[in-house]
Amino acid sequence: MTSLLSSQCAKVIAIDGPSASGKGTIAERIATLLNRDYLDSGALYRLTALYAQQSQIDWTNETQIAHLASTLPANFIAGKILLNNQDVTVDIRNESIGMGASKIAAFPAVRMALLQRQRDFLTEKGLVADGRDMASVVFPNAELKIFLTASAQVRAKRRALQLGLPVNGVQFQQILTDIEKRDVADQSRVVAPLKPVAEAHILDTSFLNIQESVQKILDWYRIIEK
Ligand code: CDP
Repeated sequence: MTSLLSSQCAKVIAIDGPSASGKGTIAERIATLLNRDYLDSGALYRLTALYAQQSQIDWTNETQIAHLASTLPANFIAGKILLNNQDVTVDIRNESIGMGASKIAAFPAVRMALLQRQRDFLTEKGLVADGRDMASVVFPNAELKIFLTASAQVRAKRRALQLGLPVNGVQFQQILTDIEKRDVADQSRVVAPLKPVAEAHILDTSFLNIQESVQKILDWYRIIEK
C-alpha cells in the first residue's frame, strides 16, 4: 500500500468540501463511472463517534476515543456500513452523530488512528475519496484534487430536501444553523482544518446539479489522464 502512495502520483481522486456539499453522491458516482473503489472518510469519523456513544465514552475523551478508532470493528459491505456486525448505515447519518464526529475529528490522536485505515482503501484499482483532508493529509499525492463547495443556504436546502423537510421555516433555520456551526468547527480546528490545498480545482456547485458537477470533474480528469 505504501508503495502505491509514495509513487509520484497516487491513483486517487480526492474530493474535499464542507458539510452537505454533495461530495458523497458525486464521489460515489465518479467511482462507479471510472470503476474505482470509493472511500467515504466521514463515515469512519461518524462510526467512531457512534462507537464511543455505544461504549459510553464521552466525546471529549481523546485518549479513549483514539483507542476505539484504532480498533474500530467496522465493515463496508455491498453499500451497507456495519459496526460490530450490526447495520448502522442509517444510524450514523443522524445530525447528533454528525456533531459528535465533528468533535472527535478535532483530536490529533483520533485522526492519526484513522490515517492508515483510510489509506488501506487504495488498491491497484484506484480510489475516489471524499472528506475534509483527503488532498492535504491522507492522499497528498492524489492525481486530481477537488474542493467542492456551495453556499450554506443551498447546502441547507439540499439537506432539508434529503430529509423530506420544507425549505423554509423553523426546521429549515435549524438545519442552516447546524451546517454553519459545523463549517466553523471544521474550518477552525488546529489539525487538518477544512480548506482547499493550493493545487485543488475549486468547484462551486451552488448553481450546478449532480450530473453537471460530475461532468465537470470528469472533464478535469480527462485532461490529467492524457
Ligand atoms: O456529509 P457531512 O459533511 O455531513 O459529514 P461527513 O463527511 O460524514 O463527516 C462528518 C464529520 O467528520 C465532519 O463534520 C468532519 O468534522 C469530520 N471529518 C473529518 O474531519 N475529516 C474527514 N476526512 C471526514 C470527515
